[in-house]
Amino acid sequence: MLTNLTPQPADKILALMQMFREDPREAKIDLGVGVYKNAQGITPVMRAVKAAERQLVEDQTTKAYTGLAGDPAFAKAMRGLILGDADDDSRIAAVATPGGTGAIRQGLELMRFAAEDATIWVSTPTWPNHPSIIKYLDIPMQGYRYFDNTTRSVDFVGMMADLKGVKKGDLVLLHGCCHNPTGANLTADQWGQVADLLEDTGAIPFVDIAYQGFGDGLEADAYGPRLLMARMPEMIIAASCSKNFGVYRERTGLLMAVAPNEKAKAETQSTLNFLNRQNYSFPPDHGARVVQMILDDPALRTDWQAELEAVRTGMLGLRNQLADALRQDTNSDQFDFVAQHRGMFSRLGISEDKVTKLREDHGIYMIGDSRMNIAGLNAETVPILASAIARVISD
Ligand code: LMR
Repeated sequence: MLTNLTPQPADKILALMQMFREDPREAKIDLGVGVYKNAQGITPVMRAVKAAERQLVEDQTTKAYTGLAGDPAFAKAMRGLILGDADDDSRIAAVATPGGTGAIRQGLELMRFAAEDATIWVSTPTWPNHPSIIKYLDIPMQGYRYFDNTTRSVDFVGMMADLKGVKKGDLVLLHGCCHNPTGANLTADQWGQVADLLEDTGAIPFVDIAYQGFGDGLEADAYGPRLLMARMPEMIIAASCSKNFGVYRERTGLLMAVAPNEKAKAETQSTLNFLNRQNYSFPPDHGARVVQMILDDPALRTDWQAELEAVRTGMLGLRNQLADALRQDTNSDQFDFVAQHRGMFSRLGISEDKVTKLREDHGIYMIGDSRMNIAGLNAETVPILASAIARVISD
């Protein structure tokens, strides 16, 4: 059996992460994988996470199994965080999942189970693991235009034109905020127009929200999902706690499936529990419990929000510094969009050859499509990056 196997295509983000680790150069800059790093290049354990973990070690009396859906208190706290006043317990089935990827996978499994013939529409470009899992599950997929490589902003006209092709019951994958890989996001008005289109066509939104709090703030970043929650009869939401709680390796995520009524919610919940059982039985609990403790404890929550806000404003500062440095070094405003983009990423819009040159000649690692992780920078490395970009684009 095992001799029949051939090597599988490497995930380009994870392959780059490995390449960076193996690069012996001292002066190298990692703008690849989407992991937050502080000015010292460290991905810290957040203060509130440490405090909650200490408390958990003291107070936890058992490691016996949770339920198949995970801890209901985690789901409730996360529903509140993401949906705010739009939360509606009577309509939302939810299961804890191993990270945001687990939530996406379970959401797609649910789709395949419930809507065999439906197509899922994904933005071009999107996080590469989206199409990878969709293809693996053999779900029909279509792309919709999203990014204008000239203006480096959302190609909204193209997006709406393409989405006119959706059929009733199709799913449309939307990034809840902080679009990965581009950093270009929908405005409030555009979210409204997308909701109109989904209502008119009877298509169902599938929202991936992995960076809430990294863009314009916890509330503002949830604008799209909240609007859709208020208007759509059905929706899937895959949420990750990896970035905004910094619990990457704890694999903490939540899948929510919004049903039109209580009966459909109960049936959806039963299906989600079944799917968890088929794939991994009980979801991991440690990270979920820590997140729930933070969200439900006013002091921990305040401290977590303060630290997250500092992370967010730090990234905005780096964006502004980089846009200024690029303006100077390239003597043009062609990279001003870096200050307008939001979240961890910006897509520079330079060719793959230039990205390779940045890596080979300057030790600067970004994904081949020119996605860079802003959090991989600090005040000292911004000028180095700006001058390297100016050099490679003029070559
Ligand atoms: C990324 O896009 O870099 C992150 O979401 C990490 C990953 O798993 O790809």
